[in-house]
Amino acid sequence: MPPNCNSPSYRDLILGVNTKVPLITGKSVLSINFDNAATTPPFKSVMEDIIDFSPWYSSIHRGEGYKSQLSTKLYEDSRNFVRKFVNADFDNTVIYVKNSTEAFNKLSNLLYDPLKKCVILTTDMEHHSNDLPWRDKFIIDYISVDAYGKLSMSDLEAKLYKYNNYTKLVTITGASNITGYKNPIYDIAKLVHKFGSKLLVDGAQLVPHAPIIMSNSNPEYNIDFLIFSAHKMYAPFGIGVLIGPKSILDKCTPDHVGGGTVDIVTHDFIKWNESPERHEAGSPNVIGAVALVSAIKALSKIGMNNVEHFEKKLTAYAMSKLMDIPNLIIYCDTSKSIDRVSIIPFNICGIDHALVARILSYEWGISVRSGCFCAQPYIVKLLNISSEFLSERIKNPHLYHPGMVRISFGLYNTYSEIDILVNALKTISLRRSYYVTKYANMKKTLFDV
Ligand code: ALA
Repeated sequence: MPPNCNSPSYRDLILGVNTKVPLITGKSVLSINFDNAATTPPFKSVMEDIIDFSPWYSSIHRGEGYKSQLSTKLYEDSRNFVRKFVNADFDNTVIYVKNSTEAFNKLSNLLYDPLKKCVILTTDMEHHSNDLPWRDKFIIDYISVDAYGKLSMSDLEAKLYKYNNYTKLVTITGASNITGYKNPIYDIAKLVHKFGSKLLVDGAQLVPHAPIIMSNSNPEYNIDFLIFSAHKMYAPFGIGVLIGPKSILDKCTPDHVGGGTVDIVTHDFIKWNESPERHEAGSPNVIGAVALVSAIKALSKIGMNNVEHFEKKLTAYAMSKLMDIPNLIIYCDTSKSIDRVSIIPFNICGIDHALVARILSYEWGISVRSGCFCAQPYIVKLLNISSEFLSERIKNPHLYHPGMVRISFGLYNTYSEIDILVNALKTISLRRSYYVTKYANMKKTLFDV
């Protein structure tokens, strides 16, 4: 039995939970979404707030009309909601971007100094977005992970010693988008600050699922920079957030320039605006900001501790059930004591990860993601892929694509949805050859039924 069959009523807050999707048989079933680490569905309140705001939507920072002033006020006030949600103080500036990937690219551009090669420490467990943007501008090194994919604190310390005060930034995921492990970000902050460096936390998978405190009562534990995306927190209007110290961001030359970034321009002189304006070129995404505030209000009303508590129970329930499925391998430490967000990666032996994901969708209406989840170096470690295979794979793009299946829960998922998944996976596991044969030459898609 699930730990508490009476799920909280969070499900009523979400749009689309009662949508039916077609199966390959032509029948329809209630869709089940276990791909929340990629994108969450919207809160109903977010969509209502967008509809309510739309008649007032107008240009920001650019007009004296009432609607323009109102749009500007909502946009500017939204930064305070964001700061409060992540417990950041007023020394931090909130810069809006499209998504976390854009935020990493932006910060890497802002911190880049062509005259001074600096060290950036990232880790073996990062999303490509917290790896690739740093590569061409900095000396980059990777903090290692153990056999279970958990971050090595001793390697972090060793690398901080090795680069001895030359580390400009340590950039680490708050929670992995593959194993779900939460990193001890406050302990990491203390260590990083001891070496005179700064800490950036990738909050894409953490901020929607757990409380976070950027500005602690003891500043040693502060998170210096934080990045996250609204589309993973029930607000799908193309906005993401980069937060960091105004004192640093005000000194950085903007990477995108144009409207809104400047105070004075002549043909041979530029005075940039202060941040955040200097780093938000072009017309800002006011609809995105309204949606984000609405999501923050909804999440705050539930309470992030409650979100985390409920999702932990869902995850523990799913983990215990998955562990009993024959031929199913879970690629993370399954111990109850592990601090994690609601993500579980696995494979069923003898059947390709992409096919498992397809069967779940085609036969049960369950959405999951499969593949490498934009974190190939981490997948290589978790799957223990040899360097020989990697070399072959580079030479021959048609070679097998290793990967995993991933399930990730949101606050609206239920124990009964997990039961449906578990039964589906048991069936797939027991009837592997039937499904492999059935789907081997299938050309039909869900749009053909
Ligand atoms: N980074 C997102 C994921 O892990 C898209 O699915």
